Amino acid sequence: MTFLQLIDQAPHQTLEIDGSKGGPLTGKITVPGDKSISHRALMLGAIAQGTTRIKGLLLGEDPRSTAACFSSMGAKVSNLEDEWITVEGTGGELQEPDGVLDAGNSGTTLRLMLGLLASAPGKFFAVTGDDSLRSRPMKRVIAPLTSMGATIAGKASNTLAPLGVQGQQLHPFHYHSPIASAQVKSCLLLAGLSVEGDTTVTEPSLSRDHSERMLKAFGAKLSIDAATHSVTLHGPAQLNGQTVIVPGDISSAAFWLVAAAITPGSDLLIENVGVNPTRTGILDALAMMEADITLENERDVTGEPVADLRVRHSQLKARHIGGDLIPRLIDEVPVLAVAAMFAQGTTKITEAAELRVKESDRLAVMAAALTQLGGNIVEHPEGMEITGMGSAAQLKTGAALDSYTDHRIAMALAVAALRAHGKTQIRRAEAAAVSYPTFVSTLEAAARPVPAS
Ligand code: S3P
Repeated sequence: MTFLQLIDQAPHQTLEIDGSKGGPLTGKITVPGDKSISHRALMLGAIAQGTTRIKGLLLGEDPRSTAACFSSMGAKVSNLEDEWITVEGTGGELQEPDGVLDAGNSGTTLRLMLGLLASAPGKFFAVTGDDSLRSRPMKRVIAPLTSMGATIAGKASNTLAPLGVQGQQLHPFHYHSPIASAQVKSCLLLAGLSVEGDTTVTEPSLSRDHSERMLKAFGAKLSIDAATHSVTLHGPAQLNGQTVIVPGDISSAAFWLVAAAITPGSDLLIENVGVNPTRTGILDALAMMEADITLENERDVTGEPVADLRVRHSQLKARHIGGDLIPRLIDEVPVLAVAAMFAQGTTKITEAAELRVKESDRLAVMAAALTQLGGNIVEHPEGMEITGMGSAAQLKTGAALDSYTDHRIAMALAVAALRAHGKTQIRRAEAAAVSYPTFVSTLEAAARPVPAS
Protein backbone atom coordinates (compact mmCIF):
# COMPACT_ATOMS: atom_id res chain seq x y z
CA MET A 1 0.00 0.00 0.00
CA THR A 2 1.39 3.36 -0.94
CA PHE A 3 -0.57 6.17 0.68
CA LEU A 4 -2.35 4.20 3.38
CA GLN A 5 -1.66 1.34 5.68
CA LEU A 6 -3.51 -0.53 8.38
CA ILE A 7 -1.45 -0.98 11.52
CA ASP A 8 -2.51 -3.85 13.73
CA GLN A 9 -2.78 -2.82 17.37
CA ALA A 10 -4.81 -5.77 18.63
CA PRO A 11 -7.64 -5.72 19.41
CA HIS A 12 -7.81 -2.52 17.33
CA GLN A 13 -6.44 -1.26 14.03
CA THR A 14 -4.97 2.12 13.20
CA LEU A 15 -5.46 3.47 9.69
CA GLU A 16 -2.55 5.65 8.62
CA ILE A 17 -3.04 7.89 5.59
CA ASP A 18 -0.35 9.99 3.98
CA GLY A 19 -2.38 12.78 2.40
CA SER A 20 0.55 14.09 0.39
CA LYS A 21 0.80 10.77 -1.47
CA GLY A 22 -2.88 10.13 -2.39
CA GLY A 23 -4.22 11.02 -5.82
CA PRO A 24 -7.52 12.46 -7.04
CA LEU A 25 -10.55 10.14 -6.85
CA THR A 26 -11.24 8.68 -10.25
CA GLY A 27 -12.89 5.72 -11.95
CA LYS A 28 -16.06 3.81 -11.07
CA ILE A 29 -16.97 2.40 -7.69
CA THR A 30 -19.95 0.83 -5.99
CA VAL A 31 -20.86 1.10 -2.31
CA PRO A 32 -22.28 -1.66 -0.06
CA GLY A 33 -25.99 -2.15 0.47
CA ASP A 34 -28.09 0.39 2.35
CA LYS A 35 -27.95 -0.26 6.10
CA SER A 36 -31.51 0.89 6.87
CA ILE A 37 -33.03 -1.18 4.06
CA SER A 38 -30.90 -4.21 5.00
CA HIS A 39 -32.18 -4.19 8.61
CA ARG A 40 -35.77 -3.82 7.48
CA ALA A 41 -35.55 -6.57 4.84
CA LEU A 42 -34.23 -9.01 7.47
CA MET A 43 -36.80 -7.99 10.09
CA LEU A 44 -39.85 -7.97 7.85
CA GLY A 45 -38.65 -11.25 6.31
CA ALA A 46 -38.35 -12.72 9.79
CA ILE A 47 -41.93 -11.88 10.80
CA ALA A 48 -43.58 -12.51 7.42
CA GLN A 49 -45.29 -15.66 6.25
CA GLY A 50 -43.19 -17.53 3.69
CA THR A 51 -39.87 -16.77 2.06
CA THR A 52 -38.18 -13.39 1.57
CA ARG A 53 -35.35 -13.19 -0.94
CA ILE A 54 -32.76 -10.42 -0.49
CA LYS A 55 -30.00 -9.34 -2.88
CA GLY A 56 -27.35 -6.73 -2.07
CA LEU A 57 -27.69 -6.98 1.72
CA LEU A 58 -25.07 -4.99 3.63
CA LEU A 59 -22.63 -7.46 5.15
CA GLY A 60 -21.65 -5.02 7.88
CA GLU A 61 -21.67 -5.79 11.58
CA ASP A 62 -25.01 -4.02 12.15
CA PRO A 63 -27.17 -6.16 9.83
CA ARG A 64 -25.30 -9.23 11.07
CA SER A 65 -26.56 -8.34 14.55
CA THR A 66 -30.12 -8.14 13.22
CA ALA A 67 -29.78 -11.49 11.44
CA ALA A 68 -28.40 -13.15 14.59
CA CYS A 69 -31.18 -11.76 16.82
CA PHE A 70 -33.99 -12.93 14.53
CA SER A 71 -32.33 -16.30 13.87
CA SER A 72 -32.41 -16.91 17.60
CA MET A 73 -36.16 -16.15 17.54
CA GLY A 74 -36.96 -18.78 14.92
CA ALA A 75 -36.39 -17.10 11.53
CA LYS A 76 -34.27 -19.20 9.17
CA VAL A 77 -31.70 -16.93 7.54
CA SER A 78 -29.49 -18.50 4.85
CA ASN A 79 -25.74 -17.83 4.53
CA LEU A 80 -25.29 -14.05 4.49
CA GLU A 81 -22.41 -14.34 2.03
CA ASP A 82 -24.70 -15.76 -0.69
CA GLU A 83 -25.68 -13.54 -3.61
CA TRP A 84 -29.34 -14.13 -2.81
CA ILE A 85 -30.16 -14.51 0.88
CA THR A 86 -33.38 -16.20 1.92
CA VAL A 87 -35.29 -15.61 5.13
CA GLU A 88 -37.94 -18.18 6.07
CA GLY A 89 -40.33 -16.12 8.17
CA THR A 90 -41.98 -17.06 11.44
CA GLY A 91 -45.39 -15.85 10.26
CA GLY A 92 -45.38 -13.33 13.12
CA GLU A 93 -44.81 -15.92 15.86
CA LEU A 94 -41.37 -14.97 17.19
CA GLN A 95 -40.00 -17.58 19.57
CA GLU A 96 -38.63 -16.71 23.00
CA PRO A 97 -34.84 -16.94 22.57
CA ASP A 98 -32.85 -19.02 25.05
CA GLY A 99 -30.33 -16.26 25.69
CA VAL A 100 -30.00 -12.48 25.61
CA LEU A 101 -30.60 -10.75 22.26
CA ASP A 102 -27.46 -8.76 21.42
CA ALA A 103 -27.89 -5.78 19.06
CA GLY A 104 -24.14 -5.04 19.12
CA ASN A 105 -23.49 -1.46 18.02
CA SER A 106 -26.80 -1.12 16.19
CA GLY A 107 -29.42 1.36 17.41
CA THR A 108 -31.66 0.41 14.49
CA THR A 109 -31.62 -3.28 15.49
CA LEU A 110 -32.45 -2.55 19.10
CA ARG A 111 -35.07 0.15 18.64
CA LEU A 112 -36.96 -1.45 15.76
CA MET A 113 -36.83 -4.90 17.34
CA LEU A 114 -38.28 -3.53 20.60
CA GLY A 115 -41.55 -2.74 18.78
CA LEU A 116 -41.87 -6.38 17.74
CA LEU A 117 -40.87 -7.82 21.13
CA ALA A 118 -43.12 -5.53 23.16
CA SER A 119 -46.12 -6.63 21.07
CA ALA A 120 -45.56 -10.42 21.36
CA PRO A 121 -48.06 -11.35 24.13
CA GLY A 122 -46.89 -13.74 26.83
CA LYS A 123 -43.25 -13.85 25.72
CA PHE A 124 -40.18 -12.61 27.53
CA PHE A 125 -37.08 -11.13 25.92
CA ALA A 126 -33.81 -9.76 27.31
CA VAL A 127 -31.92 -7.36 25.03
CA THR A 128 -28.57 -5.61 25.20
CA GLY A 129 -25.82 -4.06 23.07
CA ASP A 130 -22.19 -2.94 23.14
CA ASP A 131 -20.75 -0.16 25.35
CA SER A 132 -21.88 2.55 22.91
CA LEU A 133 -25.42 1.21 22.47
CA ARG A 134 -25.90 0.69 26.21
CA SER A 135 -25.30 4.41 26.71
CA ARG A 136 -27.76 5.56 24.02
CA PRO A 137 -31.26 6.80 24.93
CA MET A 138 -34.00 4.17 24.77
CA LYS A 139 -36.69 6.23 26.49
CA ARG A 140 -37.63 7.66 23.09
CA VAL A 141 -39.12 4.24 22.18
CA ILE A 142 -39.89 2.89 25.65
CA ALA A 143 -42.15 5.85 26.55
CA PRO A 144 -44.52 5.60 23.53
CA LEU A 145 -44.49 1.77 23.64
CA THR A 146 -45.47 1.99 27.31
CA SER A 147 -48.37 4.26 26.33
CA MET A 148 -49.48 1.45 23.97
CA GLY A 149 -49.49 -0.97 26.93
CA ALA A 150 -45.94 -2.36 26.75
CA THR A 151 -44.05 -3.71 29.76
CA ILE A 152 -40.35 -2.83 29.44
CA ALA A 153 -37.84 -2.51 32.24
CA GLY A 154 -34.25 -1.40 31.94
CA LYS A 155 -31.22 0.18 33.50
CA ALA A 156 -31.21 3.76 34.81
CA SER A 157 -34.98 3.95 35.51
CA ASN A 158 -35.96 2.19 32.29
CA THR A 159 -34.01 4.45 29.95
CA LEU A 160 -30.97 2.37 28.98
CA ALA A 161 -30.16 -1.17 27.84
CA PRO A 162 -29.93 -3.89 29.02
CA LEU A 163 -33.71 -4.17 28.84
CA GLY A 164 -36.24 -6.81 29.79
CA VAL A 165 -39.44 -6.99 27.74
CA GLN A 166 -42.59 -8.85 28.75
CA GLY A 167 -44.64 -8.96 25.55
CA GLN A 168 -48.24 -7.70 25.71
CA GLN A 169 -51.27 -7.21 23.48
CA LEU A 170 -50.82 -3.51 22.67
CA HIS A 171 -53.60 -1.05 21.86
CA PRO A 172 -54.13 1.69 19.24
CA PHE A 173 -52.22 4.92 19.80
CA HIS A 174 -51.40 8.23 18.14
CA TYR A 175 -47.88 9.35 19.01
CA HIS A 176 -46.70 12.92 18.40
CA SER A 177 -42.95 12.44 18.37
CA PRO A 178 -40.87 15.41 19.54
CA ILE A 179 -38.03 14.30 17.21
CA ALA A 180 -37.88 13.32 13.54
CA SER A 181 -36.57 9.78 14.03
CA ALA A 182 -37.09 6.87 11.67
CA GLN A 183 -36.10 4.49 14.44
CA VAL A 184 -38.88 5.76 16.72
CA LYS A 185 -41.42 5.82 13.88
CA SER A 186 -40.47 2.35 12.66
CA CYS A 187 -40.49 0.85 16.15
CA LEU A 188 -44.08 1.98 16.69
CA LEU A 189 -45.27 0.92 13.22
CA LEU A 190 -43.79 -2.56 13.79
CA ALA A 191 -45.53 -2.72 17.18
CA GLY A 192 -48.74 -1.69 15.41
CA LEU A 193 -48.67 -4.79 13.20
CA SER A 194 -50.35 -6.81 15.96
CA VAL A 195 -52.62 -4.03 17.28
CA GLU A 196 -56.39 -4.22 16.57
CA GLY A 197 -56.80 -0.74 15.10
CA ASP A 198 -54.67 2.24 14.10
CA THR A 199 -51.14 3.13 15.17
CA THR A 200 -50.26 6.67 14.05
CA VAL A 201 -46.95 8.47 14.31
CA THR A 202 -46.69 12.21 13.64
CA GLU A 203 -43.19 13.65 13.45
CA PRO A 204 -42.00 17.27 13.31
CA SER A 205 -40.43 16.72 9.89
CA LEU A 206 -40.11 13.71 7.67
CA SER A 207 -37.53 11.07 8.58
CA ARG A 208 -36.48 8.27 6.22
CA ASP A 209 -39.50 6.34 4.94
CA HIS A 210 -38.00 2.92 4.12
CA SER A 211 -40.25 1.21 6.67
CA GLU A 212 -43.40 2.67 5.14
CA ARG A 213 -42.35 1.58 1.64
CA MET A 214 -41.34 -1.91 2.68
CA LEU A 215 -44.29 -2.53 4.99
CA LYS A 216 -46.63 -1.69 2.10
CA ALA A 217 -44.71 -4.00 -0.23
CA PHE A 218 -45.04 -6.82 2.35
CA GLY A 219 -48.82 -6.30 2.46
CA ALA A 220 -49.52 -3.98 5.43
CA LYS A 221 -52.14 -1.24 5.05
CA LEU A 222 -50.74 2.24 5.66
CA SER A 223 -52.10 5.77 5.22
CA ILE A 224 -49.72 8.67 4.86
CA ASP A 225 -50.55 12.33 5.44
CA ALA A 226 -47.60 14.18 3.92
CA ALA A 227 -48.84 17.58 5.08
CA THR A 228 -48.61 16.66 8.77
CA HIS A 229 -45.74 14.13 8.46
CA SER A 230 -48.06 11.44 9.79
CA VAL A 231 -48.23 7.75 9.02
CA THR A 232 -50.92 5.34 10.18
CA LEU A 233 -50.62 1.58 10.18
CA HIS A 234 -54.04 -0.10 10.12
CA GLY A 235 -53.58 -3.23 12.22
CA PRO A 236 -53.56 -6.08 12.56
CA ALA A 237 -51.52 -7.04 9.50
CA GLN A 238 -50.11 -10.33 8.28
CA LEU A 239 -47.00 -9.77 6.15
CA ASN A 240 -46.06 -11.96 3.21
CA GLY A 241 -42.48 -12.67 2.14
CA GLN A 242 -41.18 -10.57 -0.75
CA THR A 243 -38.14 -10.00 -2.96
CA VAL A 244 -35.95 -7.06 -1.89
CA ILE A 245 -33.03 -5.75 -3.93
CA VAL A 246 -31.03 -3.46 -1.64
CA PRO A 247 -29.47 -0.41 -3.36
CA GLY A 248 -26.08 1.04 -2.40
CA ASP A 249 -26.11 3.17 0.74
CA ILE A 250 -26.09 6.93 0.09
CA SER A 251 -24.66 7.35 3.59
CA SER A 252 -21.62 5.34 2.45
CA ALA A 253 -21.51 7.11 -0.93
CA ALA A 254 -21.35 10.41 0.99
CA PHE A 255 -17.70 9.78 1.94
CA TRP A 256 -16.76 9.56 -1.75
CA LEU A 257 -18.99 12.47 -2.75
CA VAL A 258 -17.13 14.70 -0.31
CA ALA A 259 -13.68 13.19 -0.95
CA ALA A 260 -14.02 13.80 -4.70
CA ALA A 261 -15.64 17.22 -4.27
CA ILE A 262 -12.70 18.50 -2.18
CA THR A 263 -9.80 16.81 -4.03
CA PRO A 264 -8.57 18.67 -7.15
CA GLY A 265 -8.61 16.56 -10.32
CA SER A 266 -11.30 14.13 -9.08
CA ASP A 267 -13.93 12.68 -11.38
CA LEU A 268 -15.70 9.68 -9.86
CA LEU A 269 -18.75 7.63 -10.77
CA ILE A 270 -20.56 5.91 -7.87
CA GLU A 271 -22.92 3.32 -9.31
CA ASN A 272 -26.21 1.99 -7.95
CA VAL A 273 -26.89 4.37 -5.05
CA GLY A 274 -30.27 4.64 -3.30
CA VAL A 275 -31.68 8.16 -3.81
CA ASN A 276 -34.86 7.97 -1.74
CA PRO A 277 -35.81 11.67 -1.26
CA THR A 278 -35.88 11.20 2.53
CA ARG A 279 -32.15 10.36 2.33
CA THR A 280 -30.80 12.80 -0.28
CA GLY A 281 -30.17 15.73 2.06
CA ILE A 282 -26.45 15.27 1.41
CA LEU A 283 -27.01 15.81 -2.33
CA ASP A 284 -29.07 18.93 -1.61
CA ALA A 285 -26.52 20.31 0.86
CA LEU A 286 -23.58 19.70 -1.49
CA ALA A 287 -25.58 21.23 -4.41
CA MET A 288 -26.21 24.32 -2.24
CA MET A 289 -22.45 24.41 -1.64
CA GLU A 290 -21.96 24.34 -5.44
CA ALA A 291 -20.52 20.84 -5.67
CA ASP A 292 -20.47 19.32 -9.17
CA ILE A 293 -22.67 16.22 -8.76
CA THR A 294 -25.02 14.76 -11.37
CA LEU A 295 -27.53 11.90 -11.18
CA GLU A 296 -27.43 9.45 -14.10
CA ASN A 297 -29.49 6.41 -15.04
CA GLU A 298 -32.29 7.10 -12.52
CA ARG A 299 -34.50 4.06 -11.97
CA ASP A 300 -36.76 2.28 -9.47
CA VAL A 301 -35.58 -0.97 -7.84
CA THR A 302 -38.11 -2.92 -5.73
CA GLY A 303 -39.82 0.28 -4.56
CA GLU A 304 -36.76 2.45 -3.91
CA PRO A 305 -35.34 5.11 -6.29
CA VAL A 306 -31.77 4.40 -7.44
CA ALA A 307 -29.22 6.33 -9.57
CA ASP A 308 -25.53 6.52 -10.46
CA LEU A 309 -23.83 9.60 -9.01
CA ARG A 310 -21.07 11.42 -10.86
CA VAL A 311 -18.96 13.81 -8.79
CA ARG A 312 -16.16 16.10 -9.90
CA HIS A 313 -13.97 18.43 -7.89
CA SER A 314 -15.17 22.02 -7.53
CA GLN A 315 -14.74 25.02 -5.28
CA LEU A 316 -17.34 24.65 -2.51
CA LYS A 317 -19.12 27.62 -0.91
CA ALA A 318 -20.09 27.81 2.76
CA ARG A 319 -23.83 27.56 3.46
CA HIS A 320 -26.27 27.22 6.36
CA ILE A 321 -27.31 23.57 6.86
CA GLY A 322 -30.22 23.17 9.28
CA GLY A 323 -33.99 22.71 9.73
CA ASP A 324 -35.79 19.99 7.75
CA LEU A 325 -32.57 19.16 5.91
CA ILE A 326 -31.00 17.70 9.06
CA PRO A 327 -33.11 14.48 9.33
CA ARG A 328 -32.47 13.93 5.59
CA LEU A 329 -28.68 13.93 6.11
CA ILE A 330 -28.43 13.01 9.77
CA ASP A 331 -25.68 10.40 9.29
CA GLU A 332 -23.75 12.57 6.83
CA VAL A 333 -23.04 15.53 9.13
CA PRO A 334 -19.53 14.30 10.11
CA VAL A 335 -18.37 14.13 6.48
CA LEU A 336 -20.24 17.32 5.61
CA ALA A 337 -18.16 19.04 8.29
CA VAL A 338 -15.08 17.85 6.38
CA ALA A 339 -16.49 19.35 3.16
CA ALA A 340 -17.02 22.63 5.02
CA MET A 341 -13.30 22.69 5.95
CA PHE A 342 -12.53 23.16 2.23
CA ALA A 343 -15.35 25.57 1.39
CA GLN A 344 -15.04 29.33 1.05
CA GLY A 345 -16.60 31.07 4.05
CA THR A 346 -18.21 29.92 7.29
CA THR A 347 -20.60 26.95 7.18
CA LYS A 348 -23.21 26.84 9.94
CA ILE A 349 -24.72 23.51 10.96
CA THR A 350 -27.73 24.07 13.24
CA GLU A 351 -30.58 22.06 14.85
CA ALA A 352 -28.37 18.96 14.88
CA ALA A 353 -28.44 18.07 18.61
CA GLU A 354 -29.40 14.48 17.67
CA LEU A 355 -25.78 14.02 16.62
CA ARG A 356 -24.85 14.01 20.30
CA VAL A 357 -26.66 10.70 20.89
CA LYS A 358 -25.42 8.70 17.90
CA GLU A 359 -22.72 6.00 18.12
CA SER A 360 -20.57 8.78 19.66
CA ASP A 361 -21.18 12.46 20.41
CA ARG A 362 -20.51 13.30 16.78
CA LEU A 363 -20.51 17.10 17.26
CA ALA A 364 -17.90 16.97 20.01
CA VAL A 365 -15.75 14.29 18.37
CA MET A 366 -15.71 15.97 14.93
CA ALA A 367 -15.11 19.45 16.34
CA ALA A 368 -12.13 18.18 18.35
CA ALA A 369 -10.65 16.10 15.50
CA LEU A 370 -10.98 18.82 12.86
CA THR A 371 -9.44 21.33 15.27
CA GLN A 372 -6.53 18.91 15.75
CA LEU A 373 -6.12 18.86 11.97
CA GLY A 374 -5.81 22.67 11.98
CA GLY A 375 -9.45 23.53 11.21
CA ASN A 376 -11.25 26.60 12.51
CA ILE A 377 -14.30 25.15 14.30
CA VAL A 378 -16.71 26.57 16.89
CA GLU A 379 -18.85 23.93 18.59
CA HIS A 380 -22.39 24.84 19.68
CA PRO A 381 -24.85 22.80 21.77
CA GLU A 382 -26.89 21.99 18.64
CA GLY A 383 -24.34 22.27 15.85
CA MET A 384 -21.09 23.87 14.79
CA GLU A 385 -19.54 26.62 12.68
CA ILE A 386 -16.69 25.75 10.37
CA THR A 387 -14.62 28.40 8.66
CA GLY A 388 -13.25 26.84 5.49
CA MET A 389 -9.88 27.27 3.84
CA GLY A 390 -10.90 26.97 0.18
CA SER A 391 -10.42 24.04 -2.15
CA ALA A 392 -6.78 24.68 -3.06
CA ALA A 393 -5.72 24.50 0.59
CA GLN A 394 -4.22 21.47 2.19
CA LEU A 395 -4.25 20.88 5.93
CA LYS A 396 -0.76 21.70 7.16
CA THR A 397 -0.07 18.53 9.09
CA GLY A 398 -1.65 15.20 9.82
CA ALA A 399 -2.59 14.28 13.38
CA ALA A 400 -3.14 11.33 15.72
CA LEU A 401 -6.92 10.92 15.79
CA ASP A 402 -9.43 8.41 17.19
CA SER A 403 -12.74 7.05 15.82
CA TYR A 404 -14.17 6.68 19.34
CA THR A 405 -15.37 3.32 17.88
CA ASP A 406 -17.86 5.24 15.70
CA HIS A 407 -17.89 3.96 12.09
CA ARG A 408 -18.89 7.25 10.50
CA ILE A 409 -16.26 9.19 12.45
CA ALA A 410 -13.54 6.76 11.31
CA MET A 411 -14.52 7.24 7.65
CA ALA A 412 -15.11 11.02 7.80
CA LEU A 413 -11.64 11.46 9.34
CA ALA A 414 -10.10 9.29 6.61
CA VAL A 415 -11.59 11.69 4.04
CA ALA A 416 -10.12 14.68 5.90
CA ALA A 417 -6.76 12.89 6.09
CA LEU A 418 -6.63 12.67 2.29
CA ARG A 419 -6.29 16.45 2.21
CA ALA A 420 -3.67 16.75 4.95
CA HIS A 421 -0.02 17.38 4.21
CA GLY A 422 1.62 14.46 5.98
CA LYS A 423 0.53 11.40 7.89
CA THR A 424 -2.71 11.09 9.86
CA GLN A 425 -3.39 8.13 12.12
CA ILE A 426 -6.95 7.12 12.91
CA ARG A 427 -7.09 4.80 15.91
CA ARG A 428 -9.80 2.15 16.19
CA ALA A 429 -10.47 2.48 12.45
CA GLU A 430 -11.90 -1.06 12.32
CA ALA A 431 -15.17 0.55 13.45
CA ALA A 432 -15.84 1.28 9.74
CA ALA A 433 -16.92 -2.37 9.35
CA VAL A 434 -20.16 -1.60 11.18
CA SER A 435 -21.58 -0.11 7.97
CA TYR A 436 -18.76 -0.32 5.40
CA PRO A 437 -16.49 -3.38 5.67
CA THR A 438 -14.73 -2.64 2.35
CA PHE A 439 -14.09 1.06 3.00
CA VAL A 440 -10.28 0.85 3.13
CA SER A 441 -9.93 -1.22 -0.05
CA THR A 442 -12.26 1.13 -1.95
CA LEU A 443 -10.32 4.14 -0.65
CA GLU A 444 -7.11 2.57 -1.84
CA ALA A 445 -8.53 1.89 -5.30
CA ALA A 446 -10.30 5.22 -5.79
CA ALA A 447 -7.55 7.54 -4.49
CA ARG A 448 -4.64 5.60 -5.99
CA PRO A 449 -1.67 7.95 -6.46
CA VAL A 450 -1.24 9.25 -10.01
CA PRO A 451 1.89 7.56 -11.46
CA ALA A 452 4.74 10.02 -12.16
CA SER A 453 5.05 10.55 -15.93
C1 S3P B 1 -31.90 4.87 10.95
C2 S3P B 1 -32.36 6.07 11.39
C3 S3P B 1 -31.49 7.16 11.86
C4 S3P B 1 -30.04 6.96 11.45
C5 S3P B 1 -29.59 5.55 11.63
C6 S3P B 1 -30.45 4.58 10.84
C7 S3P B 1 -32.86 3.84 10.53
O1 S3P B 1 -31.55 7.21 13.27
O2 S3P B 1 -29.21 7.83 12.16
O3 S3P B 1 -28.23 5.40 11.19
O4 S3P B 1 -32.46 2.89 9.81
O5 S3P B 1 -34.05 3.97 10.86
P1 S3P B 1 -32.70 8.06 14.04
O6 S3P B 1 -33.99 7.51 13.68
O7 S3P B 1 -32.38 7.87 15.50
O8 S3P B 1 -32.50 9.47 13.59
